[in-house]
Amino acid sequence: MCDDRNIITVNGMYPGPFIQVRNGDSLVISVVNRAQYNVTIHWHGVRQLLTAWSDGPEFVTQCPIRPGESYTYRFKITDQEGTLWWHAHSSWLRATVYGAIAIYPREGTTYPFNKPDRDFPVILGEWWNANPIDVVNEAIRTGAAPNISDAFTINGQPGDLYSCSRKHTETFRVRYGENILLRVVNAALNQELYFSIGNHMMTVVGVDASYTKPFLTNLLMLGPGQTTDVLITADQLPGKYYVAARAFASAPNVSFDNTTTTAILKYTKYGCSSKASASASQPLLPALPAFNDSLPGKAFASRLRSPGVVQVPQPVDMNLLFTVGLGLFNCKPGQNCGGPNNTRLTASVNNISYVSPTNYSILQANFLGLPDVFNPNLPPVPPLKFNFTSANIPRKLWQPMPGTEVLRVKYGSVVQLVFQDTSILAPENHPMHLHGYDFYILATGSGNFNETTDTAKFNLIDPPRRNTVAVPGGGWSVIRFLANNPGAWFMHCHLDIHLTWGLAMVFVVDNGVGELQTLKPPPPDLPMC
Ligand code: C2O
Repeated sequence: MCDDRNIITVNGMYPGPFIQVRNGDSLVISVVNRAQYNVTIHWHGVRQLLTAWSDGPEFVTQCPIRPGESYTYRFKITDQEGTLWWHAHSSWLRATVYGAIAIYPREGTTYPFNKPDRDFPVILGEWWNANPIDVVNEAIRTGAAPNISDAFTINGQPGDLYSCSRKHTETFRVRYGENILLRVVNAALNQELYFSIGNHMMTVVGVDASYTKPFLTNLLMLGPGQTTDVLITADQLPGKYYVAARAFASAPNVSFDNTTTTAILKYTKYGCSSKASASASQPLLPALPAFNDSLPGKAFASRLRSPGVVQVPQPVDMNLLFTVGLGLFNCKPGQNCGGPNNTRLTASVNNISYVSPTNYSILQANFLGLPDVFNPNLPPVPPLKFNFTSANIPRKLWQPMPGTEVLRVKYGSVVQLVFQDTSILAPENHPMHLHGYDFYILATGSGNFNETTDTAKFNLIDPPRRNTVAVPGGGWSVIRFLANNPGAWFMHCHLDIHLTWGLAMVFVVDNGVGELQTLKPPPPDLPMC
């Protein structure tokens, strides 16, 4: 059955407004909260150079904007071109509060490929036949996993495989012969997604607002938070083609609705082509991998490269290893304990399950020098003497400690970070997202990260630049970045349920020397808690 429901939107739009800017532009965006929930907006992937107060994650760079109040975000696009997006960063509001950001080439410059005839955002989302805030609150209350979503969506519509969506299926209208840039965003809350288009090969030209070395593919894999720019040419028989996405979940024991969301690529006009008289019949679904097949996703990620040789920052000043994974809290009297064996599900970084402060944001507390809001020394993991891909992980690691731990970083440090999935409960993918920076992905692999043998595999020549890395379930990824942006920068798994469970931490990057290395005081309208 089809029913109507009220959702939280921005300017009455779902998805929200499509922001189109140029590299180098300055943006001023006022957010007026007319909803009954606290909200903040995060500009996902925008580097926010020296504008940490505008980054947006709740209780990290600001207190929430309360109902009836407002806050103006001010920031500049610095050396980024391609596609980013924005979303609410409070509870699970981002289920409906999100939109795409297109960053066009800097004034007076052009694309490093033929200028496309048109470009479209293709935002993949996730829909519940319930209020998503209730869904997450129920999971928090019971300690169990949340209800899975009822549909995936493309630009807000599940597509015509779902009868309720038939009339509203998203349609991309193109003309025969055109070159089209698709800006694909994975805005789903909890699922990696495979993406493909019937009969059309895609040329990947960018990810996370950085250009890539172009390559041809019929399949994309995007973790939540990631974007991919692809070029297609409308050179097939005029007609309709399916644009489709389907979830990929690595955990073999997750029961899971593997339905497919679709949109239509529709040829509206064609020139004097011999194909003009012919016409494709019913749109066919492109072949998408099975939901538990991780290999095509890994193969896709391994093809991403920066366009040319890049300056990977070195030497490394901070060499970190973070374990990322699920865990279990013991049940206390009076609690609901819907997790396995009478426990509550949780998640952690280095065995610390992140607890958000409530009276100040981390950035405010750091600016004001308040000592009691966070601890500045996220503890390191014990040496990895056990195998994270086996069942013999020490019991201690199953039971993380709750805490508000951050890691302080000196301005200008080169930070190298290994993410190691712990496979506790199940091997789980973690799309790890860092605020305030792009990083280079030096390597990804399966099993335990091995300092000696795996370091030799690092790509220090043309690694891809991203803000979200897909750490494979039962495996690891290594990133590197230069900490040249002072502020408090959230880093978390972009699977919202993992974030809810505490798979997060904060880098507090100190000011450097002089005005160009110093974060200014907060704007006067910064919300207080
Ligand atoms: Cu797109 Cu902290 O997130």
